[in-house]
Amino acid sequence: MLEIENYDVEIGQLKKELNAVILAHNYQNPEIQDIADFVGDSLALSRAAAGTDADLIVFCGVHFMAETAAILCPEKTVLIPDPQAGCSLASTINPEELIMWKSKHPEAVVISYVNTSAEIKALSDYCCTSSNAVEITNSIPTDKEILFLPDMFLGSYVAKQTSRKNMHIWPGECHVHAGMTPHDINRYLDAKSDAELLIHPECGCTTSTLYHYGEGDINKSCHVLSTEGMIKYASSSHSKKFIVATEIGILHRMKNQNPDKTFIPLKEDAICKYMKMITLEKVYHSLRKKVHVVSVPDRVRSKARLAIERMLAV
Ligand code: 13P
Ligand code: SF4
Repeated sequence: MLEIENYDVEIGQLKKELNAVILAHNYQNPEIQDIADFVGDSLALSRAAAGTDADLIVFCGVHFMAETAAILCPEKTVLIPDPQAGCSLASTINPEELIMWKSKHPEAVVISYVNTSAEIKALSDYCCTSSNAVEITNSIPTDKEILFLPDMFLGSYVAKQTSRKNMHIWPGECHVHAGMTPHDINRYLDAKSDAELLIHPECGCTTSTLYHYGEGDINKSCHVLSTEGMIKYASSSHSKKFIVATEIGILHRMKNQNPDKTFIPLKEDAICKYMKMITLEKVYHSLRKKVHVVSVPDRVRSKARLAIERMLAV
């Protein structure tokens, strides 16, 4: 690759020349968030991709997110700066496994978390993200069985919130969030911190935290939120201190938007290695060479799009 001193300047120029837009997830490295036109969670990024009038979308996130943009915008070119940026959670289920699962529950409605491949979405009735999983589930008639996949912590959180008994949950997990355990929450409880607790529903500690909260063991408020929900909440709350239980990339925006508040990661080493594969150098290379194009075959795209559009409609 070329040796460039100011990647941000070069990227800005290429963006103009190509009528490109850069979308970045909240877990991206700070320097990527800083050059992005839009930073957000999975739902907000899907909406931004669907709404842009740029010709080229450079997606700074992981592969399933870029694929979602390609499904929603077939007329645009979607690039991912590193095609190896996968997702351990999305890899926990493949189409054969889902087909087999569906055959055992032929009447069930399939709700797939957005952290899945396009092929899995194409086999699903609804897509959902962490910010709307409860709403989507509530929109399904209560007498209908549900197959919820692939995150078991998000699934059990949703089942609890909706009091749904006929929900089958795939036993997948994200290696970053599953690593946040009830033990970490107990550490926080022992320290009797006066901070508010913000938890992503993929965390391995979500259910036990809600239990502790219900029992009155947590002396301040605790909120289960998507990454964007956490950022919005941190800005609107009067509290000055927050414990943040998710990938630490999120702290960049939180700190920038709230310089008078303190944000403490529940786990300092909660780092998604896939998200961190995207670098300024790779974004530059991606724009210059128009690589790596993310495309979804028409057969899969039209079915996957239906599941995403049903979600956007709810
Ligand atoms: P959000 O939709 O909350 O941004 O989460 C995406 C994700 O990959 C969490 O690990
Ligand atoms: Fe996937 Fe987990 Fe990384 Fe989110 S944090 S992109 S779920 S591996």
